Amino acid sequence: MSFELTNRPRRLRGNEVLRSMTLENRLSTKDLVLPVFISEEICSPEEIDSMPGVFCWPAVQIVDQVGKWVALGIRAFAIFPKINPTKKTITGEECLNPKSLAYEVGRLIKSNFSQVSLIGDLALDPYTSHGHDGILNDNGYVENDSTVEILAKASILAASAGYDVLAPSDMMDGRVGIIRSHLEKNGFTETCIMSYAAKFCSCYYGPFRDAIGASSHKPIDKSGYQLSPNNFREAVRELELDFEEGADILMVKPAEPFLDVIHYARNHFPVPIAAYQVSGEYSRITAAGLNGWLDTERCAIESLTSIKRAGADMILTYFAEKVSAII
Ligand code: PBG
Repeated sequence: MSFELTNRPRRLRGNEVLRSMTLENRLSTKDLVLPVFISEEICSPEEIDSMPGVFCWPAVQIVDQVGKWVALGIRAFAIFPKINPTKKTITGEECLNPKSLAYEVGRLIKSNFSQVSLIGDLALDPYTSHGHDGILNDNGYVENDSTVEILAKASILAASAGYDVLAPSDMMDGRVGIIRSHLEKNGFTETCIMSYAAKFCSCYYGPFRDAIGASSHKPIDKSGYQLSPNNFREAVRELELDFEEGADILMVKPAEPFLDVIHYARNHFPVPIAAYQVSGEYSRITAAGLNGWLDTERCAIESLTSIKRAGADMILTYFAEKVSAII
């Protein structure tokens, strides 16, 4: 039997060609940024326990390794240094050492691969002994303005080292504007700022903190500066402020738990929107895959496609290498 139905949306799903022509969103390796952990302490790549398949790379091997990623079509990298614990201090001075790992690695990669784009995270947590993203006062409160002053100085070191895009990930107030004016005054007029604008205080950062050795003492509570996952309006306010202060790209982080925020950002700001599919998002999919409960690659693609559909123009993802072969 058959009805006379005017609308049969399934007509468009009848064969692969039609399905493919009617796709509204497509993932491309060109939209992906691979976060990379680097250490000067190790002589062979070290797999991160809580992120199977992700490694911390010895600085001396990074040129070879970037060459392999470039061959897969990955062209943008976000660099995260794992600093030797002996160099970590309460105020994170190592961040202002022009020869510090992140700057040396930036120079190394850019002098070998002029065509790649490098994103440099600006935050104190890799450098502080307590793992917070800023300077603590006597009450354990992360001081805003003295932290921003250090980040502004660090931005000049990162820009001089060749980083194309600077990404303040600290959530201090006013830092985008201060960093922008420092860059302009010092001649780095073309260096972009990708602000971690709506960065939530998320449980999904745990594996990242293991990777850079920032959680050795106790779990860190960053709720004094990162956003509560309960708050949408407050995220909008942060996005607005960073836009007004001159951010070239606005980021939402984590990604999949905050698709509503990504969607809002895409519809309300005339700048590119980035989303960071963070370490814990990687780990939960990978762990279920290793248990045989989920298909890791297909879940990764579904997650990344959802982030794209919500409105992200670019996605930072630890799956960049794995999915580059199949998208
Ligand atoms: C810190 C920073 C974090 C991440 C990027 N930069 C962690 C944090 O805020 O504690 C997390 C990335 C991830 O989980 O993959 N400035």
